[in-house]
Amino acid sequence: MGGEVVDEKRKHPVIICRCNDITLEDVERAIEQGCRDLECLRKTLRIGMGPCQGRTCIPLLMRILARRLGKRVDELPLPVVRAPIIPVPIDLFLRSVEEGDGG
Ligand code: FES
Repeated sequence: MGGEVVDEKRKHPVIICRCNDITLEDVERAIEQGCRDLECLRKTLRIGMGPCQGRTCIPLLMRILARRLGKRVDELPLPVVRAPIIPVPIDLFLRSVEEGDGG
């Protein structure tokens, strides 16, 4: 009976991070292996490091983690945000758009 649930999860995984294809099962496994905060989950799974920078997955992840730890979402520390190593002039992006390379 328990095997059916496991098979169903593998057939129809619940995707938490679409950018990096991270499933609920991946998140739950990382928590079971000792991750107790968002920073650990980010480093372990690379969740929140895709093109959307976690706009979709970080709120979901916070709710999952809070539920698993028996805390409220606002009790969890937020992930560390790091500035770029080298400042990039904004006109570099504008020139790129004007030249039509989209990048
Ligand atoms: S959905 Fe997770 S980084 Fe975009």
